[in-house]
Amino acid sequence: MMQANKNAFPKDFLWGSASAAYQVEGAWDEDGKGPSIWDEFVKVPGTTYKNTNGDVAVDHYHRVEEDVRLMAEMGLKTYRFSIAWARIFPTSMDEVNQKGLDFYHKLIDLCLENNVEPMVTIYHWDLPLFLQEKYRGWESREIIADFKKYAVTLFEAYGSKVKYWITINEQNIFTRMGWMTAQHPPKMSGEEKLYYQVNHNVFLAHAEAVLAFQDLVPDGMIGASFALHPSYAIDCKPENVVAKMDYDDLKNYWWMDVYAYGRYPKAAMKYLQTKGVAPEFESGDAELLAEAAKHVDFMGVNYYRSDTVEYNPMDGIDSSGVFNTTGEKGSMTIPGVPGLYKNPLNPNLPTTDWDWTIDPIGIRVGCRDITSRYDLPIIISENGLGAFDTLEEDGSIHDPYRIAYLSEHLKEIKLAIEEGSEVLAYCTWSFTDLLSWLNGYQKRYGFVYVDQYEEAVEPSLKRYKKDSFYWYKDVIASDGKTL
Ligand code: NOJ
Repeated sequence: MMQANKNAFPKDFLWGSASAAYQVEGAWDEDGKGPSIWDEFVKVPGTTYKNTNGDVAVDHYHRVEEDVRLMAEMGLKTYRFSIAWARIFPTSMDEVNQKGLDFYHKLIDLCLENNVEPMVTIYHWDLPLFLQEKYRGWESREIIADFKKYAVTLFEAYGSKVKYWITINEQNIFTRMGWMTAQHPPKMSGEEKLYYQVNHNVFLAHAEAVLAFQDLVPDGMIGASFALHPSYAIDCKPENVVAKMDYDDLKNYWWMDVYAYGRYPKAAMKYLQTKGVAPEFESGDAELLAEAAKHVDFMGVNYYRSDTVEYNPMDGIDSSGVFNTTGEKGSMTIPGVPGLYKNPLNPNLPTTDWDWTIDPIGIRVGCRDITSRYDLPIIISENGLGAFDTLEEDGSIHDPYRIAYLSEHLKEIKLAIEEGSEVLAYCTWSFTDLLSWLNGYQKRYGFVYVDQYEEAVEPSLKRYKKDSFYWYKDVIASDGKTL
């Protein structure tokens, strides 16, 4: 379906880069900020690589002028960043912290002065600790009103300056790691029923924010960012193709259908109901989700890798080993409901140093699928390569592997656009190096190297431009023609 088009990237394409508050800001208890669940979680010894935490991170809070100056030098068109809820509401939902609001005013104003379009993520995982302690955070429906209040506070404060808004970052990942695999707070595992209920609460909170947005920021655009894993059946055996459908329903459409249509996919719902783990609805929920979906302006996509799917008739356990139909290894899938799957490595694709498949075509598969299924514009809100980088003595960093990764993905996005997808923005992960939630600073993603190490007692936190910085600068300046 490809059509010849010499320059598919539109003139106003938003060439961007992204970050998250906890991973860059530091200043974890400054200017009135309250603790978040991550501030607490990472301090339990053994939780993260070499016990790294975000107390300092890459000190963006104090170096925000320098960081935005670097963005301007690069010619970046948009910067996606998240707001730390606990800077705005440190210890209660009744008191706003003006200094917290001021910090993001400063960041937004700096972006605007430098022709960098700010793109705000409302929630990127750092829930204020007091909400976890008060009612267990996302496990309670009380969070829906509190999230709405937080979002409204941001819309009122920044709505006249910020056009692009992302409600929730990677709901599918933080809920899974928080309630199924115990890798994120609140560190629970195998709580499948709760996991789906928590997700339902997050959807409702997202929906309330989307609706409030309509009145407060009428000219803005809003959507959620989803960690998309396009999938391939391992081969053409029909049972593997059905397993791929199960995978898509349970791992992709379960989220995207709610954002775009306001309803859960049917086969997956039937499967979870039979298992007894489907979310419980209260009256008005279905209507709220459906109404909000009408006002979602784009699908935010974080793309790092694809998955391969194979039918797994025997034990009903998926890749992470936490979905087990009866709680017993070796049990059969439930008769009359979709079979389950496993995720073998794709033999056709290379992997990163952290064993993630590298699949540029997967991003095109994802864009095409979203376009056909939802007909929504797309914002690629994250895409990037986590790798070890070496700072040379002369201050240079040669990262041809990152340039190759990003340029291959951009070429596929260009093809997706030619094939009919409306892609508004592309944000690399990340602009500066930053703290990986669990992997410290060894896994680097940025265009700008930051002198920060796991072992460092007093890191210099100096910024150095990598080769990829200059490469992206040229890509932006040429509207993608240099790709
Ligand atoms: C997605 C998350 O949004 C981000 O916070 C994380 O660091 C990257 N993936 C890389 O794993």
